Amino acid sequence: MNRSPKRNHVPRETIDEIRSRSDIVEIISECGVALRPVGRNFKALCPFHTEKTPSFTVSVEKQIFHCFGCQTGGNVISFVQKHEGKSFIETIEWLAERQNILLPTQDARETANQKRIKTLEDLNHFAVEYYHRQLLTERASESARQYLKHRGVQPKTLRAFQLGYATSGRREIVKAATDKGFTIQQLVDVGLIKDEDKGPQDRFWNRILFPIQNERGVPVGFGGRALSEDHQPKYLNSPATTLYDKSNILYNLDKARQSLYKQQRVLLVEGYMDVLMLYQSGVENVVASSGTSLSENHARLLKRFVPEVVIVYDGDASGFQAAQRGLHQLLAEDLRVRVALLPPGEDPDSFARQHGVDAFTELTDKAINLIEFQIQSAIQNRDIHRVDVKTQIVKEVTETLLNLKNRIERTEYIKYAAKELRVDEKTLWDQLKDAGFKETSAPRQTRRGKVAPQKLSARAQIEHQLIEALIQNPALLPYVKSQFDCQHFTEPRFVRIAKLLWEADTDDERMDIQTLINDSGDEALNAFVSSVLLRKTPPPNLQARVEGCLKKLRNFHLQDLEQRVRSHALAEGADEMETLEQLVRLSNERRALRGRDAEGTHDENPNEGRS
Ligand code: UTP
Ligand code: MN
Repeated sequence: MNRSPKRNHVPRETIDEIRSRSDIVEIISECGVALRPVGRNFKALCPFHTEKTPSFTVSVEKQIFHCFGCQTGGNVISFVQKHEGKSFIETIEWLAERQNILLPTQDARETANQKRIKTLEDLNHFAVEYYHRQLLTERASESARQYLKHRGVQPKTLRAFQLGYATSGRREIVKAATDKGFTIQQLVDVGLIKDEDKGPQDRFWNRILFPIQNERGVPVGFGGRALSEDHQPKYLNSPATTLYDKSNILYNLDKARQSLYKQQRVLLVEGYMDVLMLYQSGVENVVASSGTSLSENHARLLKRFVPEVVIVYDGDASGFQAAQRGLHQLLAEDLRVRVALLPPGEDPDSFARQHGVDAFTELTDKAINLIEFQIQSAIQNRDIHRVDVKTQIVKEVTETLLNLKNRIERTEYIKYAAKELRVDEKTLWDQLKDAGFKETSAPRQTRRGKVAPQKLSARAQIEHQLIEALIQNPALLPYVKSQFDCQHFTEPRFVRIAKLLWEADTDDERMDIQTLINDSGDEALNAFVSSVLLRKTPPPNLQARVEGCLKKLRNFHLQDLEQRVRSHALAEGADEMETLEQLVRLSNERRALRGRDAEGTHDENPNEGRS
C-alpha cells in the first residue's frame, strides 16, 4: 500500500517493535491525560475536545484508544502524533528514544545533514540563552528592560518567551559564539551574522529579540524590535535559513499547543507583542503570523491542531486586507474561520491593555463569520450607495448564502445583510430563489442538539456490517477478497476504508490492524477501526454474518448490472438479442443466489447489532 516516502526509511519491523514495546496507557498518562480504570478499559476526559463526562476510552488489551464524543481514535502512535503535534517519523523517534531502541541510520549523506542541522539548532539554543542573559543581567541592557517594563511585559512573561537583547556592539554574538567553538560559517548559516566587506558583523544590535520557535519548540530564528522610531526597520527578522522558513512558522505555536486542544480554536494575530500580552493575561491559544501573509503551509499547520481559527488582525486597512487574504487560505484548508474586527487604530495588544482581557475575549467570542465579514468588507471598501455596486454585492452575498446548509443561520444572515446593505429582506429571498435556491428541510436535530448521523441506506448498512466484521476478524479478509471486489462498495466512506483493507492484505502480508492504522494515516479510518474494536464484541457467528452480507451485496451488484444493461439498451438502440441474453444471464445468477439462500444460511437482519 502507499506510504509516504518519509515513512519509508524506518523499517516495518522496527516500527512494530517500537509500537509493541510502548504501552498505550503509560504513554497517554505520560502525556498528561488522567486515566481511570473502568472495567477492562481506562477512561478519561478527552484531551481533544471539551467534555464534562469521560468518553475517551483506552483498551490495554487492544492497545487502542477511542473517544466516543469526538470520534477520534487510533493506536499509541496516532495518539502521540495528534496530542503532541508530531509527524509520524518524529513520533517514532520519540517513542524509540524512550525505549532505548536505536533507529537504523540512513545513508551517510543523510546522517551528515542531520548532524549539521543539529549543530545549527545548538547554535540557536546558545544564542537564545546568550541574548536572554544579556537582557536580564547586562548594565547596557537597562534601556531595553525599561522599554519592556514600560510596555507592560512582566518578568515571568519575559522569561517564558526567553526575550533577549542585542546590545549596540557589532561583534558581540560573533565573539561569544566563536569562543564557544561555533564557526563563522555556522553563524552565517543561522542568520545571526553577516560576513561581508567589513568582516563578520552581528545582524542584530540594539534590538529586543523575540526568539522564534517551530511547533516543537526548537529555536529557528529571531525577530528583533528597535527601541526607537529612528532605528529602522521597526522589526528586523532572521533571513530564510535551513532552519527558518517563515511560511512554515507561526510564532508561539509551541507554547499554545496544549491550549489549542482544550479550546478547539486558535486566535491568529499579527504581532509578537500581541501574542505576549495576550498570553500574559491568560489567553494562551494565540499564535502570530508575524507580519507575513498567511501561507498554505500555515493553514495546514493550524489544521493539525484546531478546527477553527479566529483572525484578530489590526484595525487598520492593511490588517483588514491581510485578514481577507488569510481567510481564503484557511477556508481552502477547510477550517472554520471567523474574524474579530478591532476598532480602527487598535491591535490586540493595545486593545487588551486599554479595555481589559475580558473585553478582548468578548470581542473574539463575537467574531463574525464569513458572510458578515464579506458584507463588512464590501461596505468598507466600496460605495454601497451606488446602485451598480450594491447590485454586485448582493450578488456576491447571495452566492455565499446559497451554500449555507443551516436554515436558521440563513434566515439570520438575510436579516443581517438586509439591514447592513439597506435592502428589503424580501429582495434577498427573491434573489436567492432566482439563483436556484430551493427550501429544504434542515438537518435532523437529536435531543442533545447534535446533528443526527445520516441514516444509511439498506445497502450501506450491509457494507458497514461487512467492514466491521473484517476489522473484528481480519483472518476473514482473504476469503472476502476472493468473493467480492472492493470497487463494488457504494457508500463513499466505506469505499475508502474497503480499499485500504483490500490493499493492506496481500499474498505476502496478512492485514494487521495496528499496521493498518500506522500506514493509512487516515483519521476517519482510525476512528472507525478504534470504535469497532472498543464498542463491540464480535458475534459468535461472524462467518455466517459475512456470508449473508456477501450474498446481499452481490445481489445489489447484479441489480446494478441489470440496470446498466437496460439503460444501455434504451439509449443506444443496442442489439436486442444480446441485451436479452445478458438480462437472462444476470437474472439467473440472482435466482441462483436466492436459491442458495433458501437451502441453508439464514437471512440476516441488517440492523442487528448496530448501535
Ligand atoms: P506591527 O507594525 O503591527 O507591530 O507589525 P506590532 O507587533 O504591533 O509591534 P509594536 O506593538 O509596535 O511593538 C506586526 C508584525 O509584523 C512584523 C512583526 O512580526 C510584527 O510583530 N513586522 C512589522 C516586521 O516583520 N517588520 C516590520 O518592520 C514591522
Ligand atoms: Mn502593537
